[in-house]
Amino acid sequence: MSPVEVARSASEDARSICLHEYGSAPDINIYGDPNFTFPYVPTHLHLMVFELVKNSLRAVQERFMDSEKIAPPIRIIVADGLEDVTIKVSDEGGGIPRSGLPKIFTYLYSTAQNPLDEQLDDLGTANVATMAGYGYGLPISRLYARYFGGDLQVISMEGYGTDAYLHLSRLGDSQEPLP
Ligand SMILES: Nc1ncnc2c1ncn2[C@@H]1O[C@H](COP(=O)(O)OP(=O)(O)OP(=O)(O)O)[C@@H](O)[C@H]1O
Ligand SMILES: [Mg+2]
Repeated sequence: MSPVEVARSASEDARSICLHEYGSAPDINIYGDPNFTFPYVPTHLHLMVFELVKNSLRAVQERFMDSEKIAPPIRIIVADGLEDVTIKVSDEGGGIPRSGLPKIFTYLYSTAQNPLDEQLDDLGTANVATMAGYGYGLPISRLYARYFGGDLQVISMEGYGTDAYLHLSRLGDSQEPLP
């Protein structure tokens, strides 16, 4: 599969949810060779990029929604190394306070309101995809990355933005972690 192509389709999906929820969405620029391919599970990569881009879109959108300034685009960089293919999702959404960092990879930690609470009284919208609020986007994505010998790191500069590094192992020598 082509990581640039998967990143593009995951970004479009995340952006359309953002448009639906906020009425507008920051741009997403993808840098990398679209013709580069390597063996990986496209649905896994789609899920991970989708979750990272949703987080970035939400952060940028919340920060620039009510400001005069134009929202800075989210940048996705795809690098093909010998050992790893690394995908960086970079935003200027204000970052995460250092005190919150130890919690972001725990299940159910979210700074958004739980979508189920909002929708209880309105069953008609209960199936609409939401931007954030369940708190499992990052932990699930890291679990998927590690399953095939990769990893996910989140580095934040509070007051500026967040960089998420998604490492995918190319070697194919990692053991499947079966129970
Ligand atoms: N790029 C980012 N910029 C700012 N804060 C972020 C970013 N990514 C994650 N966070 C913070 O980390 C928290 C956890 O993220 P996570 O994706 O796991 O859950 P969520 O986005 O709240 O809900 P969901 O499970 O629906 O994705 C978020 O609520 C947010 O506070
Ligand atoms: Mg999320």
